[in-house]
Amino acid sequence: MSASRRLRRLAVVWLPVLALAGIGAVVLPAAHAAPAAQPAKAAPGPDGAALYLQDCATCHGATARGSSRGPSLVGVGEAAVDFQLSTGRMPKKAVGYPAPPYVPILSQADIAALDRYVTALAAHGGPGIPAVTVDPNLIAEGGSLFREYCAACHSVTGVGGELVDRPIPALVGATPTQVGEAVRSGPVQMPAFGPAALDRTQLNAVVSYVSSLRHTDDKGGDPLSHLGPSAEGAVAWMLGLVALLGLARWIGKRG
Ligand code: HEC
Ligand code: HEC
Repeated sequence: MSASRRLRRLAVVWLPVLALAGIGAVVLPAAHAAPAAQPAKAAPGPDGAALYLQDCATCHGATARGSSRGPSLVGVGEAAVDFQLSTGRMPKKAVGYPAPPYVPILSQADIAALDRYVTALAAHGGPGIPAVTVDPNLIAEGGSLFREYCAACHSVTGVGGELVDRPIPALVGATPTQVGEAVRSGPVQMPAFGPAALDRTQLNAVVSYVSSLRHTDDKGGDPLSHLGPSAEGAVAWMLGLVALLGLARWIGKRG
C-alpha cells in the first residue's frame, strides 16, 4: 500500500472520529454548565415595592387588602406568595390556570424581592417557605400520609382530578419546595396543613412521596442524578465515540 493511500485511509477513518470528539467536547461542558447559568445577583436588587405596584396592586390593592379583582393577602404567609409566583400563577395574566411544567412569569430575583415585600406589607403571620428534604427512607410513610390526607383530591397516584369549578393539578410539575408550600399554605380550594396536622418529618415524608411519583414518570433521569437529557445525550455520544474508536482500530488492523 502506498504512503499516500495509507494516509488517505487514515484520514477517512479518523476525521469523523475527531469531529465527533469535537462535538462531545462542546456538548458535555455545555450540558454541565447549563444549571449554573443564573446571572449574578445585581448589586442593589430589584425594588419589591415598585414591582408590587406595577404587577399586583391593580388586583390586590395598594396595601394588599384586596379588591373586586383579587383577594386580600393579609396573613397568607410567604409560602403562599412564593408558591403563587414560582409556579407562574401570579401575576395573574389570564383566566384559567397554568399547567406544568411551570414557568414563572417573573425572574428569580423579582420573585425573591416580592416574597419579602408582600410578606412585610400584609402576608406576615402565615406560614413561611418550608425547608424540605427529599429522603428516600420516608417514601413509604409519605405514601400512607398521602393516601390519608391528599389522595381524596389528587388521587393515589397524584394524577389529579376535577373539583366542581377547577381542575386539580397532577403533582408531577411541582418542585419539592412548591409541594411543601402548597401543603402549608393551601392554595385557593386546597386546605392548608399546618405543623399540627403534619409535622416537619411528616411534611418531608409527603414531599418525598410526591417526588417519587415524579421519578416513575421521568425515564432514565436517575442514573445521572437528573442532569437531564442533554447531559445524558452527551454521555451517549461519548460511549458512541469509544465504540467508533474501537471500530476504526479494527478496520485499521485489517487493512
Ligand atoms: C389580574 C388580577 C391579579 C393580579 C395582577 C395578581 N393577582 Fe394574585 N390573585 C388574583 C386572584 C383572582 C387570586 C385568587 C386565586 C385564584 O383565583 O387563582 C389571587 C391569589 C393570589 C395569592 C394567593 C392568596 C391565598 O389566599 O393563598 C397570592 C399570594 C397572590 N395572588 C399574590 C400576587 C402577587 C404577589 C401579584 C403580583 C406579582 C399578584 N398576585 C398579581 C388576582 C391577581
Ligand atoms: C380538598 C381537595 C384537596 C386536598 C385534600 C389536597 N389538595 Fe392539593 N390541591 C387541590 C387543588 C384544588 C389544587 C389547585 C390549587 C390552585 O390551582 O390554585 C391543589 C394544588 C396542589 C399542589 C400544586 C400542584 C401544582 O403542580 O400546581 C400541590 C403540590 C398539592 N396540591 C399537594 C397536596 C398534598 C401533598 C396534599 C395532602 C397533604 C393535598 N394537596 C391535599 C386540592 C386538594
